[in-house]
Amino acid sequence: MGNSKKSEADSNVLDRVLVLEMVRVTEAAAIAASNLVGRGDEKAADAAAVEAMRKAFDELYIDGTVVIGEGERDEAPMLYIGEKVGGAPGKGPKIDIALDPLEGTTITAKAGPNALAVLAAAEGGCLLNAPDVYMDKLAVGPGYPAGVISLEKTPTENVASVAKAKGVKPNEIIVCVLDRPRHADLIAELRAIGCGIQLIPDGDVAGVIAVTNPETTIDVYMGSGGAPEGVLAAAALRCVGGQFQGRLLFRNDDERARARKWGIEDLNKIYELEELAKGDCIFAATGVTDGSLLHGVKRLRDGRMTTESVVMRASTGTVRWVKGEHRK
Ligand code: FBP
Repeated sequence: MGNSKKSEADSNVLDRVLVLEMVRVTEAAAIAASNLVGRGDEKAADAAAVEAMRKAFDELYIDGTVVIGEGERDEAPMLYIGEKVGGAPGKGPKIDIALDPLEGTTITAKAGPNALAVLAAAEGGCLLNAPDVYMDKLAVGPGYPAGVISLEKTPTENVASVAKAKGVKPNEIIVCVLDRPRHADLIAELRAIGCGIQLIPDGDVAGVIAVTNPETTIDVYMGSGGAPEGVLAAAALRCVGGQFQGRLLFRNDDERARARKWGIEDLNKIYELEELAKGDCIFAATGVTDGSLLHGVKRLRDGRMTTESVVMRASTGTVRWVKGEHRK
C-alpha cells in the first residue's frame, strides 16, 4: 500500500467524527422536513430542514466547512458554501461537508417518493467543489467490468455495453431518467431500443443510488441533474461500489464564471467517481418520504416518530442501516 500513511491519516480524521453521529444530523433534518410533507410549500420544508441540520451540526465535535450547500453566501442564510459548521471550530478534526438538507423539495411538498436529507463528509479537499450547475450523469451498480459505461459513448452504445456485460438483450435493460423535457431525445433513443425507462419526477441522488440495489431492477442511470447532487451520489457509490461519470453542463457565461471561481479550468472534463469524492468519505441519508432507498419519517399515534437512515464509509465499505425511534 503505497499511500498507507495518507489513508491512515484520512481514516483517523473520519474516525473521530464518529460515523454514526452523521446520522443524527440527517435525522434531525428529515424530521423537521417531515412536518411539511404534502403541504405544498417547498420553501418552508427546505428552510425547516436547513435550520435543523445547522443546529445538529453544532452538537458534533468537528471543525467542519460546507463545500456543497444551500448556495453561495449572498444567496443562502444558512449552510452556504464556505460556512463553518460543528461544535469545535479550530479544535476538532477538519472536515469538508457536502450537504442537501432536503433533496427533493418538490417531492416533499407533494408527498411524492424519495425525498431525503443527505450529506457526505470527507477530509479537506476530497469532495469536488461543484458549482450549482447541471451535470450529465451516467451510473451503473457494482459488478461490471471497469469502463462498461462512458459519457463519450451514445446512450445506445452504453445500453449495449451494459447488456453485453450483464448477458441480456439491450431491450431488457432498465434505465432511470429524470422526467424532464430536456431528456426528450434521450428518452426517444432509449424507447427505440425498447429499454424499460423508470421516469422519476425528482430526486436523482436516490435515482443514482438505485442502480446499486438489485431490488430496484434499475441497471443504469442516465441524464442531467444538479451537479451538487452528483457529488453526493458519487460519495455513496464510492462506499457501495459501482461506476459513475459526470460532466458539468453550462447554460451561460455566468455559470462558466462560477465554475472558474471554484477552480474548475477544464469545463468539458468528464469526472470519474474518485475525482468527485476521493479518499475516505462518509455518506449519510435519512428518508423524508418513502422511497427506493429508505422509508420516510413516520408519526405514530402515540406521538413517537420513526426514521430510517443509512450511513456508509468508503474506506471500509461498511453500510449501516439505522432505524430510529424518537419520543420528542
Ligand atoms: P431540489 O431538492 O433542489 O428540488 O432538487 C431536486 C432535484 O430533482 C434533484 O434531485 C436533481 O438533481 C435536480 O432537482 C434536477 O434539477 P431540475 O429540477 O432543474 O431538473
